[in-house]
Amino acid sequence: MILPGEVAPAHRHVSSAIRFVLDGEGAYTAVEGEKAYMSPGDFVITANWAPHDHGNTSHKPMLWLDVLDFPQVNFFETSFAEQFASATQPTSRADGDSLSFYASGVLPDGAPAGLNRSPVINYTYARTRPIIERMMKAGDVDKRHGARVRYANPINGGPVLPTMGANLALFPKGFKGEKYRATDGTIFVCAEGEGATTVDGKVLEWGPNDVFVVPPWKHYSHRVGKESVLFSISDRPAQEALGIWREDTPSH
Ligand SMILES: [Fe+2]
Repeated sequence: MILPGEVAPAHRHVSSAIRFVLDGEGAYTAVEGEKAYMSPGDFVITANWAPHDHGNTSHKPMLWLDVLDFPQVNFFETSFAEQFASATQPTSRADGDSLSFYASGVLPDGAPAGLNRSPVINYTYARTRPIIERMMKAGDVDKRHGARVRYANPINGGPVLPTMGANLALFPKGFKGEKYRATDGTIFVCAEGEGATTVDGKVLEWGPNDVFVVPPWKHYSHRVGKESVLFSISDRPAQEALGIWREDTPSH
């Protein structure tokens, strides 16, 4: 949580971070020269070694969920961090530039072809939410995962970060999902609606801004009353890169 007037001074570290905005309006994260003003549902990434600082120029606290890949970085004993001399970094592009430049079906001429993480700073809820709505209307609803999109690195279609990947899923009213399990550990956040997820036989009920975790290789299934949206993040990209990710799908 960042309170009105607070600043988290500019720094960078090897661990990558994602942020999913839960509450408040008008605080910002500045990443690599772009100051992204955030709204609930926005998905912000701070890649490995990217300079970042946060500030709140609004009159209300802002709350977001942070997920960092520290366990992976620490496993390899490769953790480094650096503070900058000034509290805030200079801004070199406008809020929304990276989303506009990279996530619009076009790329700036000369964009780096081999970037293994996304150049987009803020995947706004305003942009992503209508897409899962369209998927649902088109009938593209997975029996386990609902109408779900994966946040992609627009350069190569890969995950947003080499260590962590994220999804946004819409569940139609009355959705009763089939059981699923995979080896990635997954953190879910309810962005809208309410429902319950059965994890290894245990029922976890959730509503807006609730956070819950499905550990690796535990069966889980979602069900909702009203139409609901779940954001999720996991270490699947790292496991896939190492060739050790697996999922268990029922054979039909
Ligand atoms: Fe940080």
